[in-house]
Amino acid sequence: MEMTKLRVFGLLLALMAMAIVPSASAQDRLFSNGAKQKGEALLKQMTVDEKVGQLNESSGIVMPGLGAGKPDDLIANGGVGSILWQMDVKEINRLQHIAIEKSRLHIPIIFGFDVIHGYRTVFPVPLAMASSWDPSVEEQAQHVAAEDARAAGIQWTFTPMVDIARDARWGRIVEGAGEDPFLGSAMARAQVRGFQGANLGPKSVMVCVKHFAGYGAADGGRDYDSVYVPEELMENVYLVPFHAAVEAGAGSFMSAYMDLNDVPATGNHWLLTDVLRKDWGFQGLVLSDAFAVGSLVTHGYARDGEDAAFKAITAGLNMDMASLTYSHNLAKLVKDGKVSEKYLDEMVLPILEAKYDLGLFEHPYADESKVDAMLSRPEGLELERKLAARSMVLLRNENSTLPLSKKLKKVAVIGPLADSAHDIEGGWTVEGLFGPGGKSHPITVFAGIKNKLGPDAQVTLVTGPTPDRFYPGLLDMLSGKKPIPPPSAEETAAWIEKAKVAAADADVVVAVMGETASMSGEAASRSSLDLPGIQEQMLEAIATTGKPVVLVLEAGRPLDIRWAAEHVPAILEAWYPGTEGGNAVADVLFGDVNPGGKLPVSWPRSAGSEPLYYNHTRTHEPEDTPQFTSRYWDINSKPLFPFGYGLSYSTFKFSNLQLSKSSVHVGDATEVKVDVTNTSPIAGDAVAQVYIHQRYGSASRPVRQLKGFARISLKPGETRTLMFPLGKEELKYWNPQTREWIVEPSEFDVWAGEDSTASLHADFTIVP
Ligand code: NOJ
Repeated sequence: MEMTKLRVFGLLLALMAMAIVPSASAQDRLFSNGAKQKGEALLKQMTVDEKVGQLNESSGIVMPGLGAGKPDDLIANGGVGSILWQMDVKEINRLQHIAIEKSRLHIPIIFGFDVIHGYRTVFPVPLAMASSWDPSVEEQAQHVAAEDARAAGIQWTFTPMVDIARDARWGRIVEGAGEDPFLGSAMARAQVRGFQGANLGPKSVMVCVKHFAGYGAADGGRDYDSVYVPEELMENVYLVPFHAAVEAGAGSFMSAYMDLNDVPATGNHWLLTDVLRKDWGFQGLVLSDAFAVGSLVTHGYARDGEDAAFKAITAGLNMDMASLTYSHNLAKLVKDGKVSEKYLDEMVLPILEAKYDLGLFEHPYADESKVDAMLSRPEGLELERKLAARSMVLLRNENSTLPLSKKLKKVAVIGPLADSAHDIEGGWTVEGLFGPGGKSHPITVFAGIKNKLGPDAQVTLVTGPTPDRFYPGLLDMLSGKKPIPPPSAEETAAWIEKAKVAAADADVVVAVMGETASMSGEAASRSSLDLPGIQEQMLEAIATTGKPVVLVLEAGRPLDIRWAAEHVPAILEAWYPGTEGGNAVADVLFGDVNPGGKLPVSWPRSAGSEPLYYNHTRTHEPEDTPQFTSRYWDINSKPLFPFGYGLSYSTFKFSNLQLSKSSVHVGDATEVKVDVTNTSPIAGDAVAQVYIHQRYGSASRPVRQLKGFARISLKPGETRTLMFPLGKEELKYWNPQTREWIVEPSEFDVWAGEDSTASLHADFTIVP
């Protein structure tokens, strides 16, 4: 009886709720009318083979074990629409000359590459930029990256990666904005704006939002593995930043590699057509991930290449990256009447429109004489240093160990990453990968500390065996590099002794530890999150000297630092901070910059804590009930550091949390108002965060959800009042029962503060 009453009440509530009807898409203005008209006119002159050619993105280099190479003849025959993995501007221009001068219709090639966090000047990795909680930081960086890339002949970047990652074992967590859809959306929009500008134009680099979709939910955190995510979780979490990118005007998407609920994303009609085009009104183009059309056969989804091409194109995939499956099969599918020429035209048109709007027909070539000067702009480096410092997260600072004094005379800098120039930039460094290389001059932490203290201080370096000895990165594996065996017991003991001697002789020890760049990223998942190699042993040995130790972490994921979090007085997460990273670390350690970054992920205690995220739903025995404080037998189930957490050299107080209306009707908005005060004598940045919780309704809602944030600078003693809107966008959710977006009558909790455990609380009600 009670149940029936409840159901009827639930149904009534659902009826009183407001369904959200999608509004007209920002994508209506994606390509200009001129581009559309020119594209349609050009299509009329094209043969089926030439149309199929536009849907082919060829590899510009020979991939070891995967073939391809110089596609000159294919280009001359109109068989190439785009080229990727070619970073040599001379070669780019040579290939473009073939397209313009030798192909029948002179259609320019669009050159694509993964310009993820800078070109020659490498900015902090995306996870770090998200830690800034300052989308303007990301926008500025990506704008510089776009100018550099465009000058070097690249008009299309395979970024942003907006995959939500709730599991740090997944190596690609480093490439995205972490676990939260609200923060992830803000970062996604910023990147679209940074690369493309207000509209696609001759100065833009077109983005490719990836990996559509659900890729971050790989089983066990194993890259490429299957993903099972129900529709409500897709809609409420995984798809949210993708939709934000569409709304911000993203020109292209990349389909993901994996099976989504048993249908590979690259041949998934629900994703590529129903959601992306029909629900969201996306007008751009979808590119497959590398070789993914061919992989539809490997997945056991397509019978053969012809079936793979059929399934991909009819699902809504415009362009085939590198597998040549479209090139070999599409024309036949059209000839046999299985794919209509009209549909083929629809698939080709956005590619031509993008080329027109990007100005490629007018200016197909890069000016080789200007590239070097552009890529070496000092302003880029200055911005890099500033952004890197803004992205760092101070995790621990017992007894104000930091900031360090600049008068220090003896500092020991210890750890295998302390002077590793490659690792401080992280993965996806353009020139380091396929370009000429060697032109970026990254500053390591050792170099940064020496720069800061000057010649009078004694800065000693002890490195150690590289921790990636057992883990060759993806590119290492492709080039046949073999894993190096782990250090012997004698070698380990010798390194530890060296480290202890240096530590004992110093006033302060800075341990620089974590993962090498190749340990995160693609095909770089880990089953353990510990400090790899002999680093933990080194750290524990250094601490026995009794000298103050500061741990600087360089890594692409949160690591298991349970020991350090109890025994090392100061811990700074630097992620991979980029070219000026070492200077930026020194700026923070010595107090020239007051850290203000916050975690974009819940920090796990161990790999066994994963997947871990703050915005989970409530169990019937919530963690805060006394007898069930931990849902693991052996470790606390709560994060070591919560989502949104990060210390500062200042202290802040949040007060006067109020709502402009404590009761609103469905469809109306209220506003959160809160005061933030710098209660310390030091100027610093606070990140105000607003979380909500819907107490009941036609679905269980997460215990907390981030719905507003702002990074602000406050002088000593200064108070600022901040306002955050709570309207339809913030209050809606995808209802699994009625399968639509709704705002429904309920009671809501609101918290404001410095992280996802904020205790300053208010509430409001939504009435029918
Ligand atoms: C494979 C990766 O999954 C994707 O992120 C990248 O953009 C392409 N390769 C092209 O490099």
